[in-house]
Amino acid sequence: MASTSATPSFANLTHVPGTDPTKCIYDAARISVAQRLVKSLGVTIEQAYVAVDYGKKGEDWTVPIPRLRLKGKPDEFVKKVADEFEADDWIDTVTPSSPFVHFRMRTSTLNRAVLDQIDRLTHHSGTGKPEYGTNDSGKGKKLVLEYSSPNIAKQFHVGHLRSTIIGAFLNNLYRACGWDVVSLNYLGDWGKQFGLIAVGFERYGNKEALEKDAIKHLFDVYVKINKDADADPAVHDAARAYFKRMEDGDEEALKHWREWRALSIRKYEAEYAELNVAFDEYIGESTVSQESQDDALAKLNELQLTKESDGALVIDLEKYKLATAVLRKRDGTSLYLTRDIGGAVERWEKYHFDKMIYVISSQQDLHVAQFFKILGLMGFEWASRLEHINYGLVQGMSTRKGTVVFLEDIIREAATCMHEQMQKNEAKYASIEDPEKTSREIGISAIKIQDMQAKRINNYSFSWDRMTSFEGDTGPYLQYAHVRLASMERKNPELMPLPATSEINTDLLVEPQAHEIIVLLGTYPDVVKTALKNQEPSTIITFAMKLSHTIASAWEVLPVRHEADREKAKARLWMFICARDVLGAAMRLLTLTPLERM
Ligand code: ARG
Repeated sequence: MASTSATPSFANLTHVPGTDPTKCIYDAARISVAQRLVKSLGVTIEQAYVAVDYGKKGEDWTVPIPRLRLKGKPDEFVKKVADEFEADDWIDTVTPSSPFVHFRMRTSTLNRAVLDQIDRLTHHSGTGKPEYGTNDSGKGKKLVLEYSSPNIAKQFHVGHLRSTIIGAFLNNLYRACGWDVVSLNYLGDWGKQFGLIAVGFERYGNKEALEKDAIKHLFDVYVKINKDADADPAVHDAARAYFKRMEDGDEEALKHWREWRALSIRKYEAEYAELNVAFDEYIGESTVSQESQDDALAKLNELQLTKESDGALVIDLEKYKLATAVLRKRDGTSLYLTRDIGGAVERWEKYHFDKMIYVISSQQDLHVAQFFKILGLMGFEWASRLEHINYGLVQGMSTRKGTVVFLEDIIREAATCMHEQMQKNEAKYASIEDPEKTSREIGISAIKIQDMQAKRINNYSFSWDRMTSFEGDTGPYLQYAHVRLASMERKNPELMPLPATSEINTDLLVEPQAHEIIVLLGTYPDVVKTALKNQEPSTIITFAMKLSHTIASAWEVLPVRHEADREKAKARLWMFICARDVLGAAMRLLTLTPLERM
């Protein structure tokens, strides 16, 4: 058998803080390039490392020499680097093009090192989980991540859906980068509406319906009693009185509320599970203690930051262009804003986080900016660790039956849409094992991909047709790309099991299409780091789509089953399996469940 290249040793690479060649082959390549700059130009390895960029068209790495801020003529530095260049296992070509110097990776090393790393970190990571793409940058750091946060007895609207989808992605992303994450669902489970529901429950409540689907039943009761209240102001008075009893801690008044809350959470948990979403803790506006709100107000008073206005307590934030905010109403009842202030203090005391993220719609930008500012004015050093991840509006989400009210309806509609779509191809449909489950999974992928595809802050309009299409950059398209890759092992039984990876001749992967795929696979750990920096799920989606497109256009030129050279066929099959592993990793990071068949 022809001998094949091996991954070169990392031993000759200088350590650069924040890099890890054992998890990212391109770190090794960049360090190798940087070492040449150190040798020829006398800069430090850190200075050199950050000057190494991805190259354009056909050049793997590019160094813009002015980035090094050296005194003298770039032309001369460029020439010196090129003249003194010596090829090694990592880098084999230099091209001076002042003020740039371009470098190319040795292809045999690239093929071997990237595929080996993917294989090892996917199937032998030592943690029992696939780890390709992960890094340790967040090691030892704690993130408190609040997302989803719907309101009990009210509609689960698209804003909550977006928060859920984006938050679940951030949860995976931070964990993949080594952070210790605590995820919180901060329910809207307190306020006068619960007094209203209590009054409504006496009229319209039904124990059985509540047990069966608390979310739906409480919403029904809420809608009905609201109608009554419109006609009869006495209902409002009764509701206010009831909620007052709740605020005063009257156990009798709290009893029902407690049950509604517990049953609603149970229902939510089941729905979230379908979306691959789970929370470490369900907290809520109700769990913010009266005491921490009182303490916060006392402190603000003491700092003379508050004033009376019409009997209410307010804080003037005009000079920060954040308007004036009410902290306590005339009747003394607590407010959303005050609960967020007290709640943040409680979370700090409990977790001592390095960062706390709130995933909340941009419609609440002012509210969030206000409570962040207030916490800063209160002198909390940790206020600078708070971060608002916001997102734009979604227009036009409705089902064929009408406007969407419940998360369950969104999931069901997605599944039905996909199911109909799949039934159009009869032959294929017949071969699917569990079409119900498969269509639900693809439908959910469709919603998630549509939601995360553009920059978070952009508004978009919800379109069942567009997102459930197998054409274009959709969730179904990604699932299809994965399924096609996953079918490769099944379709090539005579090549399976593949020999030990060290016996596969990766030097046979010579076509430009193979090169393109491997180069892309190698970028994945960098893509994850970029996503952590900009906290944009679209960064991962763009990568996954590009990988899928590149593979789609390679099928014809890189045959496996019909390749006469069986050694070559094995190398290609291994490459496609690695591509499946990386696409699968990206999809899981996006909270999708990659399918094996469809
Ligand atoms: N329940 C709120 C709503 O539906 C969202 C809560 C956002 N989180 C927060 N800490 N304010 O509008």
